[in-house]
Parts: sequence; C-alpha cells; structure tokens
Amino acid sequence: MMSSSLRVQLGERSYEIFVTSNDLAGVGRFARERVNGSAAFVIADENVLAHAKTVEASLRQNGFRAAMAVRPSGEAQKSLEVAAELYDRLVDLPADRRTLVVAVGGGVIGDLAGFVAATYARGLPLLMVPTTLLAMVDSSIGGKVAVNHPRAKNMIGVFHQPIGVWIDTSTLTTLPEREYRSGLAEVVKYGVILDLGLFEYIEKHTLEILRREPAAVGHIVCRCCELKARIVEQDERDESGLRAVLNYGHTFAHAFETAAGYGAWLHGEAVAAGMVCASRLAERRGLVPREVTERQIRLLRAVGLPVTIEPWPKDQMLVAMRADKKALGGKMRYILPRRIGAVELFDDIPEEEAQAVLTVQRGAS
Ligand code: NAD
Ligand code: GLY
Repeated sequence: MMSSSLRVQLGERSYEIFVTSNDLAGVGRFARERVNGSAAFVIADENVLAHAKTVEASLRQNGFRAAMAVRPSGEAQKSLEVAAELYDRLVDLPADRRTLVVAVGGGVIGDLAGFVAATYARGLPLLMVPTTLLAMVDSSIGGKVAVNHPRAKNMIGVFHQPIGVWIDTSTLTTLPEREYRSGLAEVVKYGVILDLGLFEYIEKHTLEILRREPAAVGHIVCRCCELKARIVEQDERDESGLRAVLNYGHTFAHAFETAAGYGAWLHGEAVAAGMVCASRLAERRGLVPREVTERQIRLLRAVGLPVTIEPWPKDQMLVAMRADKKALGGKMRYILPRRIGAVELFDDIPEEEAQAVLTVQRGAS
C-alpha cells in the first residue's frame, strides 16, 4: 500500500492525517516535526501493548523522554477516576505545557487520552495513533474527546483537535474479527451518507476488505478520513447540522445497545441494524424506494453485520431514544437517506412513526 497524507483545514488548528502501513516506527519523526517539547506520554490499552512499545521506542529515538500508561481495555476506562490517575502520572513525570500525549488504541483510548490532554494544564498537544478501524475512520479525527458520566455516555468532554493523526493500517492485523467487522459498519455508513462511489467500492471489493488486504483497507480508510475531514472543516463544533449526518442510524443503535444489554452488541453491530431502521423510516416517509434499504441490507450482511433486531421490549428501546432526545435539547433528530450517497436531517418526526420501524424487519431475516 502506498502511504498518503491529507490535511484537516482548521486554520491554526489544522493537522495532517498520515495513512501508511508497516511503519509505526515513523511516529517519532512525525511527532518531532510537530512539537518541540522534550517529553511524551503514551496512553495505550493492554491489547495493543506491542504496538505501543514500537511507538514509545520511536519517540525515544527522536529525542523524547517517553513514559507510558497501559490501561485495561474497555469502555469503563472512559471515566473521571481513570483520568485522575493519568493526571497523577503527568504530575509525576513531570509534564509541562509542551508535553505530548500520544493515544495508541481504539476509540476508548483516543477519547480518554484526548480528554486528559485537553484538560491537563489547559491543554497539551495530542497525537492520535488509532489501532481499530472505527478509530481510524472516525474517532481519531475531529477533536471530540470525552469520558462518560455514570448515567450519560460521552457527557464530560470538550473539543480538542490533535496535532496529527498517524494511521498504520497494519496494526489492524491483530484486531479481533468481530471488532473489525463492527468498524466496517461505520465505513458502510460513510458510503450511504456521503459517497455512492465508496458504497460501490465496498460492494465490489467485499472479499478483499474482509481479508484485510492492504490495498483495499488503505482505500477505504483514506476515503473515510477524507470524508470526515471535509465534514469537520465545515462544522467543527457540531453546530450546523452537517456533522450530525455522521450519526446516521445512531439513535436506533443506542436503543439496540441498551435493549441488548451492556456489551452484548458492539457499537458497529448496533449501527448496522440502526441504519436499516433509519432507511425503513425513510421508506415510510416516501423519501426512498425499498431498494435503497435492500441494498444496504445486502452489503451489511455481506460484511457479516446484523440487519435484524431481537424482539426486545419497545419501552426499553424508547428509554434510550428519549435519552438521545434529551441530550439534543428535547428534539428527536433523525438522519434519513434520500438515496445512497445523500442524507437529510429531520427533527419533526413523531415518536410513533419512529416506533413503527422498531420491529423485526420484513425481508431481512
Ligand atoms: P475500543 O477502543 O474499545 O477497541 C475495541 C477493542 O479492540 C478493545 O478491546 C481494544 O483493546 C481492542 N484493540 C484495539 N486495537 C487493537 C488492535 N490493533 N489489535 C488488537 N486489539 C485491539 O473500541 P472502538 O470501537 O475503537 O471505540 C469505541 C469508543 O469510541 C466508544 O467509547 C465511543 O464512544 C468512541 N467514539 C468516539 C468518537 C469521537 O468522535 N470521539 C466517534 C466514535 C466513537
Ligand atoms: N463520530 C461523530 C462525530 O465525530 O461527530
């Protein structure tokens, strides 16, 4: 795979996303070119320890005094308690305002390390080294960093753009199959919301993508990064409604994650079924013909993702959907397709209409 580079243009907060393969050792030079501090603090989870050690060594070779915190894996790490432990480590180091925080891991580590970097000493530089497909195509780009409140996911957070993103797609070779497929849901999502060409590429190259062939993986990662970068440039702080299109299928997904019980469904699995529901809702409103939904179902199935839900009690699902509504200031917001490659935001859909698609869907068994 050829390396490639793109920029997220955000004025003085602009940064480069470098996509490469088999070159984690390149991180140190990339970092050295961007910050002049003498210390780096790597935050990683235990499942990516080998990758994190390569990153740490590369930082040392490029003149950084490097320290590392290795956390257990899992969503529970995104807490104020864990952030406080990491602040202690930064005080011990001691860190100064130029100390670079380097996140090596998936979205959990990226969000946690990003939150710590954003809040320590009013903001430290942050370098993202994503190691899951989801983190490569979504969470490492755009500056949303957060920990969870015990009753509200991602509720304690800020915007803090990284100084760079180093994506080495070969780190995906160690990612468990289910996590990889879950990340593919977000890739399919980009196709539906923004890019028919990407959707067709996944249709045509499904096997290469599932086999994680470097050229195919490189192609989808680069394209998704470009799409995310363009959205973030136009709506950095999620205010205009443009960035919200990234949440296609997500209101339903949150309902399924809640109904299935904590951890039973991976996020991408719930997003897959959520996209099908959102598309069914678009059908009901006459926005798209049935074939638009069926095409998504075929592709999601082909990459091994769920497209039907269990007969969970509707009231459980509604609790989660209403929590989304509260977080959005009382308005339910749905991103619905107009065709493959284009979506629109609706905030006037009655709850009964959304409920009507919360069912084991026809044609999707
Ligand atoms: P994750 O970080 O929990 O990683 C999934 C699992 O894969 C973990 O067990 C991890 O240890 C393991 N892992 C990671 N990389 C690996 C590798 N290369 N080899 C082997 N194992 C590896 O989950 P995720 O799906 O990457 O991220 C989910 C999180 O991202 C959620 O907390 C979500 O809220 C957040 N998120 C944030 C944004 C944002 O814009 N900030 C966007 C989407 C999601
Ligand atoms: N993952 C949604 C966003 O970055 O806005």
